[in-house]
Amino acid sequence: MYGSHFGLKELPFTITPDTSFFFAHSSHQVALNTLLVAARSGEGFMKVIGEVGIGKTLLCRKFLGALNHREFVTAYIPNPYLQPMTLLLACADELGIKYPQYINQHQLLRLLNRYLIDSYAKGKRVLLCLDEAQAIPIETLESLRLLSNLETERRKLMQVVLFGQPELNARLDNPSIRQLKQRICFACQLSPLNMSEVEFYISHRLAVAGYRGPRLFPHRAVKAIYRVSNGVPRLVNILAHKALMAAFGEGARVVADRHVRMAVADTESTQGALTVKARIKKYLTALVSAVTAISLLPLTTLVLTGATLVTGSPV
Ligand SMILES: Nc1ncnc2c1ncn2[C@@H]1O[C@H](COP(=O)(O)OP(=O)(O)OP(=O)(O)O)[C@@H](O)[C@H]1O
Ligand SMILES: [Mg+2]
Repeated sequence: MYGSHFGLKELPFTITPDTSFFFAHSSHQVALNTLLVAARSGEGFMKVIGEVGIGKTLLCRKFLGALNHREFVTAYIPNPYLQPMTLLLACADELGIKYPQYINQHQLLRLLNRYLIDSYAKGKRVLLCLDEAQAIPIETLESLRLLSNLETERRKLMQVVLFGQPELNARLDNPSIRQLKQRICFACQLSPLNMSEVEFYISHRLAVAGYRGPRLFPHRAVKAIYRVSNGVPRLVNILAHKALMAAFGEGARVVADRHVRMAVADTESTQGALTVKARIKKYLTALVSAVTAISLLPLTTLVLTGATLVTGSPV
């Protein structure tokens, strides 16, 4: 691979959400701060919304890592596409609660409740993070609400953070779970990186990966990556990784825009952007030919008419 060619200790643009690469750009930093403040204030439900590949899972991991574990007990459920009882069991597993093999929902809720009260007595807050929350079935969301109902006179015994794609908002609009919706006290929206953030993001990840040389991605290459990725970090990573491979393949020391174009051509998820661009180009070419044809029309007509007159003239 290109690691030693560019003097890197590790690959800078993998698509796994590795917190050591976390780049605190505006929207992620605001969301992280909001979550930390909300967690400390003991609010019931929080939600973080963001498009595919924007960094929800990374933020969730960063948030969990930033909590003080003397103060918080946390449970992380990466895939909550589960029936209500299965979700409660998953929570119990994550919190290390022991339960008998055959247990019904009522008994399980009682066990959870006892655990929450014990934790509260020890001065610990319990916080549950659900990633991919847009996939949680409605009945399961309702059982989450029941779980978060457990409270003392002064505060909730369990806090829940939902990380999900924008479809989660539509799901929460379902009238049957309006009680849950009303309990969401903090909501954050993650936005894509802007052009200068993409620039810093790329150099940040390169620096974390051990790069110490001169600028590897010139402004034009970054601009090309930004245009095609729209600032979505996962797409930036994929394109930057492939552009580095293309540059390495040519033995180049710096990424040029042609390497980015090669990366784009090789990336299915950016083909839409290319197709749109290709379509615009085709449309413009057709438009230019049409305009040229129209402007030539009188002349052509004249020539043709003249030809007819000449050739067709019986006189
Ligand atoms: N703030 C950031 N700092 C560094 N890397 C980031 C940041 N945000 C996203 N990334 C990177 O972008 C990629 C996608 O991030 P992540 O998997 O967290 O997205 P996601 O929103 O959870 O996607 P999905 O909707 O598919 O679950 C990962 O490689 C992650 O490391
Ligand atoms: Mg994710």
